[in-house]
Amino acid sequence: MAVFAEYDTLTETMKVATHQLRCIECGARIAGSAVNSIFRCPTCNGLYDVIYPWSSLPNGDTPASDSKLPNASALRWLWQERRTSTLPVDQSGVWRFRDLLPVIDDLDNVVTLREGNTPLYELPRASKALGLNWVLAKHQGMNPTGSFKDTGMTSALSVARERGFEWVACASTGNTSAAMAAYAARAGMRSIVFIPEGKIAWGKLSQSMDYGALTIQLKTDFDGCVNVLTDLVNRFPIMLLNSVNPYRLEGQKTPAFELVEQLEWQVPEHVIVPGGNLANGSALAKGFAEMHHLGLISRVPKISIIQAEGANPLYRTLIENNGEELIPVKANTRATAIRIGNPASWRKALRALRTTGGWCEQVSEQEIALAKAEIGSEGIGCEPASAVTLAGLKKLVAQGKIGREERVVLILTGHTLKDSNYTIDYHRGELFTEEENAQISGPDQILHAALRKPPVVLDPDPDTVFRELESQMKLVHA
Ligand code: F0G
Repeated sequence: MAVFAEYDTLTETMKVATHQLRCIECGARIAGSAVNSIFRCPTCNGLYDVIYPWSSLPNGDTPASDSKLPNASALRWLWQERRTSTLPVDQSGVWRFRDLLPVIDDLDNVVTLREGNTPLYELPRASKALGLNWVLAKHQGMNPTGSFKDTGMTSALSVARERGFEWVACASTGNTSAAMAAYAARAGMRSIVFIPEGKIAWGKLSQSMDYGALTIQLKTDFDGCVNVLTDLVNRFPIMLLNSVNPYRLEGQKTPAFELVEQLEWQVPEHVIVPGGNLANGSALAKGFAEMHHLGLISRVPKISIIQAEGANPLYRTLIENNGEELIPVKANTRATAIRIGNPASWRKALRALRTTGGWCEQVSEQEIALAKAEIGSEGIGCEPASAVTLAGLKKLVAQGKIGREERVVLILTGHTLKDSNYTIDYHRGELFTEEENAQISGPDQILHAALRKPPVVLDPDPDTVFRELESQMKLVHA
Protein backbone atom coordinates (compact mmCIF):
# COMPACT_ATOMS: atom_id res chain seq x y z
CA MET A 1 0.00 0.00 0.00
CA ALA A 2 2.82 2.29 0.96
CA VAL A 3 4.27 1.78 -2.48
CA PHE A 4 0.98 2.80 -4.11
CA ALA A 5 0.86 5.93 -1.97
CA GLU A 6 4.37 6.68 -3.19
CA TYR A 7 3.18 6.03 -6.71
CA ASP A 8 0.37 8.58 -6.40
CA THR A 9 2.82 11.22 -5.27
CA LEU A 10 5.12 10.16 -8.03
CA THR A 11 2.59 10.52 -10.82
CA GLU A 12 1.54 13.84 -9.31
CA THR A 13 5.12 15.10 -9.40
CA MET A 14 5.48 13.72 -12.90
CA LYS A 15 2.45 15.60 -14.25
CA VAL A 16 3.39 16.29 -17.78
CA ALA A 17 3.86 19.64 -19.51
CA THR A 18 6.12 20.47 -16.59
CA HIS A 19 9.25 20.42 -18.61
CA GLN A 20 11.17 23.44 -19.86
CA LEU A 21 14.09 23.91 -22.20
CA ARG A 22 17.24 25.47 -20.83
CA CYS A 23 19.99 26.91 -23.02
CA ILE A 24 23.30 25.23 -22.22
CA GLU A 25 25.22 28.42 -22.97
CA CYS A 26 23.32 31.32 -21.38
CA GLY A 27 20.95 29.41 -19.10
CA ALA A 28 17.80 31.05 -20.55
CA ARG A 29 14.69 28.94 -19.95
CA ILE A 30 11.72 28.69 -22.25
CA ALA A 31 8.56 26.61 -22.43
CA GLY A 32 8.97 23.55 -24.63
CA SER A 33 6.32 24.79 -27.04
CA ALA A 34 8.17 28.12 -27.50
CA VAL A 35 11.25 26.62 -29.12
CA ASN A 36 12.22 27.72 -32.64
CA SER A 37 12.52 25.36 -35.58
CA ILE A 38 16.29 24.92 -35.28
CA PHE A 39 16.24 24.16 -31.53
CA ARG A 40 18.74 26.89 -30.77
CA CYS A 41 18.63 29.77 -28.34
CA PRO A 42 17.73 32.98 -30.24
CA THR A 43 20.02 35.00 -27.96
CA CYS A 44 23.25 33.01 -28.06
CA ASN A 45 22.67 30.14 -30.53
CA GLY A 46 23.24 27.57 -27.76
CA LEU A 47 21.59 24.14 -27.70
CA TYR A 48 18.93 23.20 -25.16
CA ASP A 49 18.59 20.64 -22.40
CA VAL A 50 15.15 19.43 -21.36
CA ILE A 51 14.72 20.13 -17.64
CA TYR A 52 12.02 19.15 -15.15
CA PRO A 53 11.00 20.56 -11.78
CA TRP A 54 12.83 17.68 -10.14
CA SER A 55 15.96 17.51 -12.30
CA SER A 56 19.38 18.79 -11.37
CA LEU A 57 21.25 21.27 -13.51
CA PRO A 58 24.78 20.58 -14.65
CA ASN A 59 26.05 22.95 -11.94
CA GLY A 60 24.24 20.93 -9.27
CA ASP A 61 21.36 23.39 -8.71
CA THR A 62 17.72 22.36 -8.91
CA PRO A 63 15.48 24.49 -11.13
CA ALA A 64 12.57 24.89 -8.71
CA SER A 65 13.30 24.98 -5.00
CA ASP A 66 9.91 23.59 -4.00
CA SER A 67 10.05 20.61 -6.34
CA LYS A 68 9.62 17.23 -4.70
CA LEU A 69 12.05 14.57 -5.76
CA PRO A 70 10.46 11.37 -7.09
CA ASN A 71 11.08 8.46 -4.77
CA ALA A 72 13.85 6.15 -5.95
CA SER A 73 12.47 2.86 -4.65
CA ALA A 74 8.99 3.61 -5.98
CA LEU A 75 10.52 4.22 -9.40
CA ARG A 76 12.51 1.00 -9.31
CA TRP A 77 9.41 -0.94 -8.33
CA LEU A 78 7.25 0.67 -10.97
CA TRP A 79 9.77 0.12 -13.77
CA GLN A 80 10.10 -3.54 -12.83
CA GLU A 81 6.33 -3.94 -12.59
CA ARG A 82 5.81 -2.59 -16.12
CA ARG A 83 7.93 -5.43 -17.51
CA THR A 84 5.00 -7.78 -17.09
CA SER A 85 2.51 -5.48 -18.82
CA THR A 86 1.22 -5.98 -22.37
CA LEU A 87 0.69 -2.26 -23.01
CA PRO A 88 2.92 -0.94 -25.83
CA VAL A 89 4.14 1.97 -23.67
CA ASP A 90 5.19 -0.47 -20.97
CA GLN A 91 6.82 -2.84 -23.42
CA SER A 92 8.92 -0.01 -24.82
CA GLY A 93 12.33 0.08 -23.15
CA VAL A 94 12.12 3.87 -23.35
CA TRP A 95 8.58 4.62 -22.19
CA ARG A 96 8.85 2.10 -19.37
CA PHE A 97 10.92 4.88 -17.78
CA ARG A 98 8.45 7.59 -18.80
CA ASP A 99 8.33 9.05 -15.29
CA LEU A 100 11.74 10.56 -16.03
CA LEU A 101 10.86 11.81 -19.50
CA PRO A 102 7.52 13.55 -19.20
CA VAL A 103 7.80 15.35 -22.53
CA ILE A 104 4.28 14.67 -23.80
CA ASP A 105 0.87 15.21 -22.23
CA ASP A 106 -1.01 12.33 -23.72
CA LEU A 107 0.45 8.83 -23.87
CA ASP A 108 -1.81 8.12 -26.85
CA ASN A 109 0.69 10.17 -28.84
CA VAL A 110 3.52 7.74 -28.14
CA VAL A 111 5.01 6.32 -31.32
CA THR A 112 6.76 3.10 -30.42
CA LEU A 113 8.30 0.08 -32.09
CA ARG A 114 9.11 -1.47 -28.66
CA GLU A 115 12.59 0.06 -28.77
CA GLY A 116 15.16 -0.37 -26.03
CA ASN A 117 15.24 -3.59 -23.99
CA THR A 118 18.65 -4.26 -25.50
CA PRO A 119 20.99 -6.96 -24.25
CA LEU A 120 24.05 -6.46 -22.10
CA TYR A 121 26.68 -8.97 -23.16
CA GLU A 122 29.94 -10.01 -21.58
CA LEU A 123 33.00 -9.88 -23.84
CA PRO A 124 35.14 -12.59 -22.24
CA ARG A 125 37.82 -12.70 -24.94
CA ALA A 126 38.28 -8.95 -25.04
CA SER A 127 38.42 -8.80 -21.23
CA LYS A 128 41.08 -11.51 -21.15
CA ALA A 129 43.14 -9.90 -23.89
CA LEU A 130 43.06 -6.57 -22.05
CA GLY A 131 43.70 -8.05 -18.60
CA LEU A 132 40.42 -6.62 -17.28
CA ASN A 133 37.93 -8.47 -15.13
CA TRP A 134 34.85 -6.97 -16.73
CA VAL A 135 34.18 -5.74 -20.22
CA LEU A 136 30.52 -5.62 -21.20
CA ALA A 137 28.75 -4.50 -24.35
CA LYS A 138 25.36 -2.83 -24.26
CA HIS A 139 24.17 -3.61 -27.76
CA GLN A 140 22.02 -0.74 -28.97
CA GLY A 141 22.22 -2.25 -32.45
CA MET A 142 19.56 -4.68 -31.23
CA ASN A 143 16.92 -1.97 -31.52
CA PRO A 144 14.08 -2.25 -34.08
CA THR A 145 15.91 -0.44 -36.90
CA GLY A 146 19.31 -1.72 -35.82
CA SER A 147 20.78 1.31 -34.08
CA PHE A 148 20.67 3.33 -30.86
CA LYS A 149 18.79 6.09 -32.71
CA ASP A 150 15.46 4.34 -32.07
CA THR A 151 15.48 5.24 -28.38
CA GLY A 152 15.66 8.92 -29.29
CA MET A 153 13.34 8.76 -32.26
CA THR A 154 10.46 7.36 -30.22
CA SER A 155 10.53 10.34 -27.86
CA ALA A 156 11.07 13.05 -30.50
CA LEU A 157 8.49 11.62 -32.92
CA SER A 158 5.96 11.42 -30.10
CA VAL A 159 6.53 15.11 -29.37
CA ALA A 160 6.22 15.90 -33.10
CA ARG A 161 2.91 14.04 -33.24
CA GLU A 162 1.58 15.76 -30.13
CA ARG A 163 2.51 19.15 -31.58
CA GLY A 164 0.65 18.40 -34.78
CA PHE A 165 3.55 18.21 -37.22
CA GLU A 166 2.88 16.40 -40.49
CA TRP A 167 6.47 16.43 -41.69
CA VAL A 168 9.76 15.53 -40.03
CA ALA A 169 13.27 15.74 -41.47
CA CYS A 170 16.88 15.00 -40.68
CA ALA A 171 20.35 15.05 -42.17
CA SER A 172 22.08 11.78 -41.55
CA THR A 173 25.00 9.45 -42.04
CA GLY A 174 22.37 6.73 -42.31
CA ASN A 175 21.14 5.52 -38.93
CA THR A 176 19.19 8.60 -37.88
CA SER A 177 17.44 8.58 -41.24
CA ALA A 178 16.57 4.87 -40.98
CA ALA A 179 15.14 5.34 -37.50
CA MET A 180 13.28 8.55 -38.33
CA ALA A 181 11.74 7.05 -41.47
CA ALA A 182 10.48 4.03 -39.53
CA TYR A 183 8.95 6.01 -36.66
CA ALA A 184 7.42 8.59 -38.99
CA ALA A 185 5.83 5.76 -40.97
CA ARG A 186 4.40 4.26 -37.78
CA ALA A 187 2.97 7.65 -36.87
CA GLY A 188 1.47 8.17 -40.32
CA MET A 189 3.71 11.18 -40.85
CA ARG A 190 5.88 12.11 -43.83
CA SER A 191 9.65 12.20 -43.57
CA ILE A 192 12.49 13.72 -45.57
CA VAL A 193 16.03 12.53 -45.21
CA PHE A 194 19.14 14.26 -46.47
CA ILE A 195 22.11 12.01 -46.86
CA PRO A 196 25.56 12.60 -48.34
CA GLU A 197 25.61 10.88 -51.72
CA GLY A 198 27.76 7.76 -51.83
CA LYS A 199 28.90 8.15 -48.25
CA ILE A 200 26.46 6.00 -46.32
CA ALA A 201 26.19 2.23 -46.01
CA TRP A 202 23.68 0.58 -48.37
CA GLY A 203 21.76 -1.16 -45.60
CA LYS A 204 20.90 2.21 -44.08
CA LEU A 205 19.95 3.79 -47.39
CA SER A 206 17.67 0.86 -48.14
CA GLN A 207 15.91 1.30 -44.82
CA SER A 208 14.82 4.87 -45.41
CA MET A 209 13.38 3.85 -48.80
CA ASP A 210 11.70 0.79 -47.32
CA TYR A 211 10.00 2.90 -44.64
CA GLY A 212 8.76 5.34 -47.25
CA ALA A 213 10.84 8.45 -46.64
CA LEU A 214 11.54 11.04 -49.28
CA THR A 215 15.25 10.30 -49.59
CA ILE A 216 17.40 13.10 -50.95
CA GLN A 217 21.04 12.37 -51.65
CA LEU A 218 23.01 15.59 -51.69
CA LYS A 219 26.35 15.90 -53.43
CA THR A 220 28.10 16.95 -50.27
CA ASP A 221 29.10 15.51 -46.89
CA PHE A 222 27.03 15.20 -43.69
CA ASP A 223 27.94 18.73 -42.61
CA GLY A 224 26.74 20.09 -45.97
CA CYS A 225 23.45 18.21 -45.54
CA VAL A 226 22.94 19.88 -42.15
CA ASN A 227 23.34 23.32 -43.73
CA VAL A 228 20.66 22.68 -46.36
CA LEU A 229 18.27 21.21 -43.81
CA THR A 230 18.68 24.11 -41.38
CA ASP A 231 17.61 26.48 -44.10
CA LEU A 232 14.65 24.29 -45.02
CA VAL A 233 13.17 23.98 -41.52
CA ASN A 234 13.23 27.76 -41.25
CA ARG A 235 10.93 27.97 -44.26
CA PHE A 236 8.50 25.07 -43.80
CA PRO A 237 6.63 23.58 -40.84
CA ILE A 238 8.86 20.54 -40.52
CA MET A 239 10.14 19.19 -37.22
CA LEU A 240 13.91 18.86 -37.26
CA LEU A 241 14.92 15.46 -35.92
CA ASN A 242 18.69 15.74 -35.77
CA SER A 243 20.22 15.35 -32.34
CA VAL A 244 20.11 19.12 -31.76
CA ASN A 245 16.46 18.30 -31.00
CA PRO A 246 16.66 17.84 -27.22
CA TYR A 247 13.61 15.56 -27.16
CA ARG A 248 15.62 12.92 -28.94
CA LEU A 249 18.21 12.98 -26.20
CA GLU A 250 15.52 12.36 -23.59
CA GLY A 251 14.92 8.98 -25.21
CA GLN A 252 18.63 8.41 -25.67
CA LYS A 253 19.28 8.86 -21.95
CA THR A 254 17.15 5.81 -21.08
CA PRO A 255 19.75 3.15 -21.96
CA ALA A 256 21.60 4.50 -18.90
CA PHE A 257 18.58 3.52 -16.76
CA GLU A 258 18.25 0.15 -18.43
CA LEU A 259 21.96 -0.52 -18.05
CA VAL A 260 22.13 -0.02 -14.29
CA GLU A 261 18.87 -1.91 -13.88
CA GLN A 262 20.49 -4.83 -15.74
CA LEU A 263 23.45 -4.55 -13.36
CA GLU A 264 21.11 -4.61 -10.35
CA TRP A 265 21.73 -0.92 -9.74
CA GLN A 266 25.50 -1.30 -9.65
CA VAL A 267 27.29 1.44 -11.55
CA PRO A 268 30.16 0.54 -13.88
CA GLU A 269 33.30 2.67 -13.60
CA HIS A 270 33.41 3.41 -17.33
CA VAL A 271 31.01 3.80 -20.20
CA ILE A 272 32.57 4.22 -23.65
CA VAL A 273 30.71 5.63 -26.66
CA PRO A 274 31.63 6.46 -30.26
CA GLY A 275 31.61 10.17 -31.11
CA GLY A 276 30.09 11.56 -34.32
CA ASN A 277 27.72 14.50 -34.05
CA LEU A 278 28.53 14.17 -30.33
CA ALA A 279 25.09 13.97 -28.77
CA ASN A 280 24.87 10.43 -27.47
CA GLY A 281 27.58 10.64 -24.81
CA SER A 282 25.84 13.66 -23.30
CA ALA A 283 22.42 11.98 -23.46
CA LEU A 284 23.75 9.07 -21.40
CA ALA A 285 25.54 11.47 -19.05
CA LYS A 286 22.20 13.22 -18.45
CA GLY A 287 20.55 9.90 -17.66
CA PHE A 288 23.23 8.98 -15.15
CA ALA A 289 23.20 12.47 -13.59
CA GLU A 290 19.43 12.34 -13.12
CA MET A 291 19.58 8.90 -11.52
CA HIS A 292 22.32 10.11 -9.22
CA HIS A 293 20.35 13.19 -8.27
CA LEU A 294 17.27 11.10 -7.49
CA GLY A 295 19.24 8.62 -5.38
CA LEU A 296 18.81 5.69 -7.78
CA ILE A 297 22.59 5.30 -7.99
CA SER A 298 25.38 6.42 -5.70
CA ARG A 299 27.75 7.85 -8.31
CA VAL A 300 28.07 8.30 -12.06
CA PRO A 301 30.44 6.41 -14.40
CA LYS A 302 33.18 8.12 -16.35
CA ILE A 303 31.95 8.61 -19.89
CA SER A 304 34.61 8.50 -22.59
CA ILE A 305 34.11 9.39 -26.24
CA ILE A 306 36.11 7.81 -29.04
CA GLN A 307 36.47 9.33 -32.50
CA ALA A 308 37.96 8.01 -35.73
CA GLU A 309 41.32 9.65 -36.51
CA GLY A 310 39.92 10.97 -39.79
CA ALA A 311 36.89 12.54 -38.10
CA ASN A 312 38.35 13.80 -34.86
CA PRO A 313 37.20 17.41 -34.26
CA LEU A 314 36.56 16.92 -30.54
CA TYR A 315 39.87 15.15 -29.99
CA ARG A 316 41.71 17.94 -31.80
CA THR A 317 39.79 20.63 -29.98
CA LEU A 318 40.79 19.17 -26.62
CA ILE A 319 44.44 18.70 -27.58
CA GLU A 320 44.90 21.99 -29.40
CA ASN A 321 42.85 24.50 -27.41
CA ASN A 322 41.62 22.66 -24.34
CA GLY A 323 38.04 22.74 -25.56
CA GLU A 324 37.82 26.51 -26.08
CA GLU A 325 36.53 26.60 -29.66
CA LEU A 326 35.65 23.74 -31.96
CA ILE A 327 38.22 22.93 -34.62
CA PRO A 328 36.12 21.55 -37.51
CA VAL A 329 37.80 19.05 -39.82
CA LYS A 330 37.15 17.68 -43.30
CA ALA A 331 36.00 14.27 -42.15
CA ASN A 332 37.03 11.00 -43.72
CA THR A 333 36.66 7.51 -42.29
CA ARG A 334 35.30 4.16 -43.43
CA ALA A 335 33.20 4.17 -40.26
CA THR A 336 30.74 6.28 -42.23
CA ALA A 337 28.28 6.67 -39.34
CA ILE A 338 30.74 8.98 -37.59
CA ARG A 339 32.14 10.75 -40.65
CA ILE A 340 31.35 14.18 -39.25
CA GLY A 341 33.70 17.14 -39.16
CA ASN A 342 31.59 19.89 -37.59
CA PRO A 343 29.61 18.24 -34.79
CA ALA A 344 26.67 20.24 -33.50
CA SER A 345 26.71 18.94 -29.94
CA TRP A 346 30.40 19.29 -29.19
CA ARG A 347 29.83 21.53 -26.18
CA LYS A 348 27.41 19.03 -24.68
CA ALA A 349 29.98 16.29 -25.24
CA LEU A 350 32.66 18.38 -23.57
CA ARG A 351 30.37 18.91 -20.60
CA ALA A 352 29.78 15.16 -20.35
CA LEU A 353 33.52 14.47 -20.37
CA ARG A 354 34.19 17.14 -17.76
CA THR A 355 31.34 16.35 -15.38
CA THR A 356 32.02 12.60 -15.42
CA GLY A 357 35.84 12.71 -15.63
CA GLY A 358 36.02 10.68 -18.87
CA TRP A 359 38.43 11.02 -21.80
CA CYS A 360 38.35 11.59 -25.52
CA GLU A 361 40.55 9.38 -27.72
CA GLN A 362 41.05 8.82 -31.41
CA VAL A 363 41.61 5.51 -33.19
CA SER A 364 42.96 4.62 -36.63
CA GLU A 365 41.13 2.85 -39.46
CA GLN A 366 43.19 -0.28 -38.84
CA GLU A 367 42.40 -0.23 -35.11
CA ILE A 368 38.69 0.11 -35.87
CA ALA A 369 38.72 -2.83 -38.27
CA LEU A 370 40.57 -5.03 -35.80
CA ALA A 371 38.22 -4.17 -32.93
CA LYS A 372 35.22 -4.82 -35.15
CA ALA A 373 36.57 -8.26 -36.09
CA GLU A 374 37.19 -9.04 -32.42
CA ILE A 375 33.63 -8.08 -31.47
CA GLY A 376 32.39 -10.22 -34.36
CA SER A 377 34.47 -13.15 -33.19
CA GLU A 378 32.71 -13.02 -29.81
CA GLY A 379 29.48 -13.83 -31.67
CA ILE A 380 28.11 -10.33 -31.23
CA GLY A 381 29.15 -8.12 -34.12
CA CYS A 382 28.55 -4.42 -34.67
CA GLU A 383 28.95 -1.80 -37.35
CA PRO A 384 32.35 -0.12 -37.79
CA ALA A 385 31.50 3.06 -35.87
CA SER A 386 30.55 1.02 -32.80
CA ALA A 387 33.89 -0.78 -32.83
CA VAL A 388 35.77 2.43 -32.02
CA THR A 389 34.69 1.78 -28.42
CA LEU A 390 36.82 -1.37 -28.08
CA ALA A 391 39.68 0.22 -30.03
CA GLY A 392 39.51 3.22 -27.69
CA LEU A 393 39.33 1.02 -24.61
CA LYS A 394 42.59 -0.64 -25.64
CA LYS A 395 44.24 2.78 -25.76
CA LEU A 396 42.84 3.87 -22.40
CA VAL A 397 44.05 0.63 -20.79
CA ALA A 398 47.49 1.03 -22.38
CA GLN A 399 47.65 4.58 -20.98
CA GLY A 400 46.87 3.22 -17.50
CA LYS A 401 43.58 5.14 -17.31
CA ILE A 402 41.49 2.02 -16.76
CA GLY A 403 42.54 -0.65 -14.26
CA ARG A 404 41.94 -4.39 -13.94
CA GLU A 405 39.24 -4.15 -11.27
CA GLU A 406 37.22 -1.49 -13.09
CA ARG A 407 34.05 -2.38 -14.92
CA VAL A 408 33.74 -1.12 -18.47
CA VAL A 409 30.63 -0.97 -20.64
CA LEU A 410 31.02 -0.38 -24.37
CA ILE A 411 27.99 1.09 -26.08
CA LEU A 412 27.66 -0.73 -29.40
CA THR A 413 25.57 1.68 -31.39
CA GLY A 414 24.76 -0.21 -34.58
CA HIS A 415 24.08 -3.73 -35.84
CA THR A 416 26.67 -5.61 -37.88
CA LEU A 417 24.26 -5.94 -40.85
CA LYS A 418 24.12 -2.17 -41.22
CA ASP A 419 27.37 -2.23 -43.19
CA SER A 420 27.99 -5.73 -44.51
CA ASN A 421 30.15 -4.41 -47.37
CA TYR A 422 32.72 -3.24 -44.85
CA THR A 423 32.78 -6.65 -43.19
CA ILE A 424 33.11 -8.54 -46.47
CA ASP A 425 35.87 -6.24 -47.71
CA TYR A 426 37.71 -6.70 -44.42
CA HIS A 427 37.59 -10.49 -44.47
CA ARG A 428 38.54 -10.64 -48.12
CA GLY A 429 41.54 -8.46 -47.40
CA GLU A 430 40.18 -5.70 -49.64
CA LEU A 431 39.45 -3.00 -47.07
CA PHE A 432 42.83 -1.34 -46.85
CA THR A 433 45.33 -0.01 -49.34
CA GLU A 434 48.81 -1.55 -49.38
CA GLU A 435 50.12 1.48 -47.59
CA GLU A 436 47.54 1.09 -44.83
CA ASN A 437 48.29 -2.62 -44.50
CA ALA A 438 51.98 -1.81 -44.13
CA GLN A 439 51.17 0.38 -41.13
CA ILE A 440 49.74 -2.55 -39.13
CA SER A 441 52.16 -3.51 -36.36
CA GLY A 442 53.43 -7.03 -35.49
CA PRO A 443 51.00 -8.25 -32.80
CA ASP A 444 48.03 -6.64 -34.55
CA GLN A 445 49.06 -8.29 -37.80
CA ILE A 446 48.93 -11.71 -36.14
CA LEU A 447 45.51 -10.94 -34.67
CA HIS A 448 44.17 -9.71 -38.02
CA ALA A 449 45.42 -12.91 -39.69
CA ALA A 450 43.70 -15.05 -37.06
CA LEU A 451 40.41 -13.18 -37.29
CA ARG A 452 40.10 -12.83 -41.06
CA LYS A 453 37.71 -15.47 -42.37
CA PRO A 454 37.36 -15.02 -46.11
CA PRO A 455 34.82 -17.32 -47.77
CA VAL A 456 36.38 -20.33 -49.47
CA VAL A 457 35.20 -21.15 -52.99
CA LEU A 458 35.47 -24.87 -53.89
CA ASP A 459 34.22 -27.34 -56.46
CA PRO A 460 31.17 -29.29 -55.28
CA ASP A 461 33.22 -32.42 -54.68
CA PRO A 462 33.26 -34.13 -51.22
CA ASP A 463 36.97 -35.01 -51.42
CA THR A 464 37.95 -31.45 -52.20
CA VAL A 465 35.83 -30.18 -49.33
CA PHE A 466 37.29 -32.83 -47.03
CA ARG A 467 40.85 -31.80 -47.89
CA GLU A 468 40.03 -28.16 -47.21
CA LEU A 469 38.52 -29.11 -43.87
CA GLU A 470 41.58 -31.15 -42.97
CA SER A 471 43.91 -28.27 -43.70
CA GLN A 472 41.71 -25.89 -41.69
CA MET A 473 41.75 -28.30 -38.72
CA LYS A 474 45.53 -28.54 -38.90
CA LEU A 475 45.65 -24.77 -38.76
CA VAL A 476 43.47 -24.72 -35.62
CA HIS A 477 45.61 -27.35 -33.89
CA ALA A 478 48.95 -25.99 -35.07
N1 F0G B 1 27.43 5.19 -33.85
C1 F0G B 1 26.58 5.09 -34.89
C2 F0G B 1 26.29 3.73 -35.41
C3 F0G B 1 25.97 6.24 -35.42
O1 F0G B 1 25.13 6.12 -36.43
C4 F0G B 1 26.31 7.50 -34.89
C5 F0G B 1 25.72 8.73 -35.43
C6 F0G B 1 27.19 7.54 -33.81
C7 F0G B 1 27.73 6.38 -33.32
C8 F0G B 1 27.59 8.83 -33.18
O2 F0G B 1 26.62 9.32 -32.31
O3 F0G B 1 26.32 11.54 -33.33
O4 F0G B 1 25.50 11.08 -31.05
O5 F0G B 1 27.94 11.23 -31.51
N2 F0G B 1 25.02 8.76 -36.46
C9 F0G B 1 24.26 9.92 -36.93
C10 F0G B 1 23.35 9.55 -38.06
C11 F0G B 1 25.04 11.14 -37.10
O6 F0G B 1 23.00 10.42 -38.87
O7 F0G B 1 22.94 8.39 -38.15
P1 F0G B 1 26.58 10.90 -32.01
